[in-house]
Amino acid sequence: MKTNTDIHEYLRRKLLRSASILEIGSGPGTAELAKIFSANHGSVTAIEHDPEYLNLSEDVKYIHAPLVPYSDKYFRDATLWYDATKIFNLPRFDAIIVDGPKGSQGRGGFYTYLNNFKAGMYIFDDTHRMWEFRLAGRVADHFEVPFETYTDGLRWFSVVRPKEK
Ligand SMILES: C[S@@+](CC[C@H](N)C(=O)[O-])C[C@H]1O[C@@H](n2cnc3c(N)ncnc32)[C@H](O)[C@@H]1O
Repeated sequence: MKTNTDIHEYLRRKLLRSASILEIGSGPGTAELAKIFSANHGSVTAIEHDPEYLNLSEDVKYIHAPLVPYSDKYFRDATLWYDATKIFNLPRFDAIIVDGPKGSQGRGGFYTYLNNFKAGMYIFDDTHRMWEFRLAGRVADHFEVPFETYTDGLRWFSVVRPKEK
């Protein structure tokens, strides 16, 4: 299980190699992303709950945030989200990729804690799934912008780009 490789291709085209990226939900794909960005004066930070997927790459800065019970009236699929007390004072990133926790645990907490996550663009993986699509839509509504969805014919990802102030 890893981030849609099309997302990496998208970021390659849209960002300088010196960009800062946060990936929420890490794995082997995060290490691949770091080969593109960290190696070129950029940075890749990852938020991850499972020790098995922490520290897979020396080029990624990992934040370990265990999953804790979560519920939200808008995201009824979501049962768990990262412990928000472990995720604060984050810098602004050029891009944030939302690819965790697993779909079965729900990703609605990202919307609840959206104010903690400042970025030039937000990328939602797996928006071929209903709740991930709704999450992208809610974040787009928050910023009052449309969102774009890309597909390889099988999987989807969606991008929200807030207007620059
Ligand atoms: C969709 S995966 C995230 C994958 C990550 N963005 C990547 O590109 O490698 C969501 C969660 O599943 C777990 N995970 C990561 N890699 C996995 C793998 N190869 N097989 C099963 N679970 C994995 C981690 O806890 C991760 O936060």
